[in-house]
Amino acid sequence: MSEMDFENRIVSAEFEQSDNEIENSLRPKVLADYIGQEKVKENLSVYIKAARARGEALDHVLLYGPPGLGKTTLAGIIANEMGVNIRITSGPAIEKQGDLAAILTNLQEGDVLFIDEIHRMNRSVEEVLYPAMEDQALDIIIGKGPSARSIRLDLPKFTLVGATTRAGQISAPLRDRFGVILRLELYNDSELSSIVRRSAGILGIEIDEKGAFQIASRSRGTPRIANRLLKRSRDFAEVKYNGVITSDAAADALERMEIDELGLDSIDRRLLTAMIKNYNGGPVGLETIAAAIGEEAVTIEDVYEPYLMQIGFLSRTPRGRCVTPAAYSHLGIERDGQQTLL
Ligand code: ADE
Repeated sequence: MSEMDFENRIVSAEFEQSDNEIENSLRPKVLADYIGQEKVKENLSVYIKAARARGEALDHVLLYGPPGLGKTTLAGIIANEMGVNIRITSGPAIEKQGDLAAILTNLQEGDVLFIDEIHRMNRSVEEVLYPAMEDQALDIIIGKGPSARSIRLDLPKFTLVGATTRAGQISAPLRDRFGVILRLELYNDSELSSIVRRSAGILGIEIDEKGAFQIASRSRGTPRIANRLLKRSRDFAEVKYNGVITSDAAADALERMEIDELGLDSIDRRLLTAMIKNYNGGPVGLETIAAAIGEEAVTIEDVYEPYLMQIGFLSRTPRGRCVTPAAYSHLGIERDGQQTLL
């Protein structure tokens, strides 16, 4: 599949430019308005209260988990609850050591620096972060060759909030410098349904309880997808269902977008079908699947697999990935490879 297909996929959890405006208006600003991720919220609220009571900056926080679950939102909430500014950037956007030095020296006391996709930061830039995180210091080399020397600049105390889809790709020295490491999980249908209703309220969209649940159950555990499907369902509701997103309106909209009752789109189905048809349902290695469907292994691992595993359609075994009986039955394929008549 080409990059283009992936970007246009409505159930992609990756951030798209068109999500920008809507996500910003929908982002909760305080922990109390943030739905789900109960463990993360409980721990964070303790750390925030304790840091505030001591009048200190919060310890550096690493957030990890699949895309679209609200890592940027949480970083904003942390800054807001600490009463400080947030500066938002991403690993790939910081190309040179000087870029990071400029960002760091512009921070004010206590500020939050949010680095999204921190696992994609290059090594030489990452090295500037170590003394910054540990000693609030920036080491600058002046000159070249034998006369080169290093001077140390003091930085304000700040909180680095790093976000990554892959904790395993963060180097040990960087990971060790985070005092707080929090893992975000996919949301359940009831949490997503609350998020959909909250978003509909903010956007002035009429939706009933079953309509919200219909969208929630097809959103792959991901608020970003739920909010996107909400917008698209509104279009159908306005044109064909008197402006109210009922269960029927949502189901109609989602079917037209080829998203099935479980939120699988044609690409998920292609992935599972390829594993069944070509490899008898597995076990099959990640790289082999990637080659079979023309997708990058990391994308399969970060974007497709978490949800397929959550709904019990795919399992990871030491010998490779396996399609489960539940997936066969969802796809209407007999275990011996015969297509059933549905
Ligand atoms: N919008 C996106 N994620 C959210 C969450 N966890 N809670 C409330 N609104 C959200």
